[in-house]
Amino acid sequence: MSTQDGEAVDGVKSSALSGEAPEWDSRPMDQPFPALRGRRLLLERFVPGDAETVRLLAGDPGVAAMTQHIPHPYPAGAAEVWIAAHARQFEAGLNVVFAIRLAGSLVGCVNLQLGPEEGELGYWIGKPFWGQGYATEAVRLVVGYAFGELGLARVTGRHLVANPASGRVMEKAGLAWQGLQPGAAVKDGHAIDLVLWGASAVSASGTPSA
Ligand SMILES: CC(C)(COP(=O)(O)OP(=O)(O)OC[C@H]1O[C@@H](n2cnc3c(N)ncnc32)[C@H](O)[C@@H]1OP(=O)(O)O)[C@@H](O)C(=O)NCCC(=O)NCCS
Repeated sequence: MSTQDGEAVDGVKSSALSGEAPEWDSRPMDQPFPALRGRRLLLERFVPGDAETVRLLAGDPGVAAMTQHIPHPYPAGAAEVWIAAHARQFEAGLNVVFAIRLAGSLVGCVNLQLGPEEGELGYWIGKPFWGQGYATEAVRLVVGYAFGELGLARVTGRHLVANPASGRVMEKAGLAWQGLQPGAAVKDGHAIDLVLWGASAVSASGTPSA
């Protein structure tokens, strides 16, 4: 599961935030930050002007409850710090954090935390926009980017057991159920069980287009 808080971005290792060397040989990105276009959505970098909308959408208790690190209430200034970290994370090849835009408006976030040959998905959609297929469209776009432009071998995602809608999003985006991970994360001071989903570059060749 990938999530967001004021200092960290969706499960990214602390080394990505501190500027320390990662545990693996990361690949610095030499290309510009990508823009991915779907049928309705545009995925592109966050800009400082998105901070207030992030605070409103990610600050909803229904979003925070299903993610590991998004604080509630959402602290003032946290979104600005979070957005400011994205460029360094991308350039270091550690994390690609996309703003999800619908007709120019920010509706959510999807990110891919990068390892040597794999990436872990994280995402949230603002509550007013739930149930319209936006998470599915955005995750499909990022899965295509991961196996295409980035050439990754494997994409994974994890969600709380209590969040089957997130599992359905990954299933619709071509990932397969891989199992339960008991006590794999900590939320609000308690160990929580996660459900793991994954796809390989080969198995994803039939992934539906966004
Ligand atoms: C989970 C979340 C990303 C889904 O976003 P969304 O844009 O509403 O998702 P989509 O519309 O693309 O697809 C949702 C699917 O889940 C299904 N679903 C919704 N509630 C469900 C439930 N309780 N059980 C099973 N499936 C459910 C929907 O019916 C839909 O599937 P369908 O198209 O087959 O009908 C969004 O609710 C969210 O941001 N939640 C809070 C943060 C979060 O959970 N992030 C993921 C962390 S791993």
